[in-house]
Amino acid sequence: MNAQSSHLTIEPRLLPKHIALIMDGNGRWAKERGKARIFGHKAGVDALRKTVLGAARMGVQVLTLFAFSSENWRRPEKEVSLLMELFVSVLGREVKRLHKNGVKFNVMGDLTRFSSTLQEKISAAQLLTENNTGLILNIAANYGGQWDIFQAVQKIARQIESGEKRADEITEMDISDNLLTANLPDVDLMIRTSGECRISNFMLWQAAYAELYFTDQFWPDFDEDSLRKAVEWFIRRERRFGDAKENTGSMLEIK
Ligand code: IPE
Ligand code: IPE
Ligand code: MG
Repeated sequence: MNAQSSHLTIEPRLLPKHIALIMDGNGRWAKERGKARIFGHKAGVDALRKTVLGAARMGVQVLTLFAFSSENWRRPEKEVSLLMELFVSVLGREVKRLHKNGVKFNVMGDLTRFSSTLQEKISAAQLLTENNTGLILNIAANYGGQWDIFQAVQKIARQIESGEKRADEITEMDISDNLLTANLPDVDLMIRTSGECRISNFMLWQAAYAELYFTDQFWPDFDEDSLRKAVEWFIRRERRFGDAKENTGSMLEIK
């Protein structure tokens, strides 16, 4: 990887450990160009590649990308099937590159509704990259935040049912530990592109104290520089976690 656009190095301790990103605006990007929505989704893959490499270069620990929500099945069948085809072909094309860059690939969501081909490609990619120690790239596919909490509650209920735990022993940690993000840090920074200011059922529990960053850029226009802008904005936030004291602030260091 070569040093690119920005000469700024961000001190690792200041970086958000976990960035969650709602990649939105592919359809509008295509419409502006008089093209079909799938053209926007395809262009979105280039943005994804740039953003992942940018996050890895910056030293971010975890990047979670919202690729397909549990509500996206409501879209026209044709768009859904084209998106599924795109996922399969992107997995085929990109995984080797990710592996070369030390990225650990993970998909979170209810995968049972995907085709067996897609499920196999996902497993193979996870297996290939499982020992990598670089960026953890977590793709949310057929994911919903409410569903994630629901399935955690269901697992805990089973433990109670079997007598393994008592109801009054359950803590917030039990919920965190049973979410699909069990071993990942909470979300520090949540980014959404395309000017929409909503979370759309993404990581509701994990983003309880996330800083929320909204940009008007459509997802296909997002790149490493866009990510840096969001991270630099994050570093200037004062995170209080309910406390009243001011934090000491933090600065960017010029290389
Ligand atoms: C985001 O872009 C991609 C997915 C949800 C798969 P959209 O397809 O939502 O694009 P807009 O919001 O219609 O512009
Ligand atoms: C959220 O975008 C889901 C993904 C980016 C995968 P949507 O475009 O589906 O969200 P809404 O429908 O505008 O809330
Ligand atoms: Mg959208």
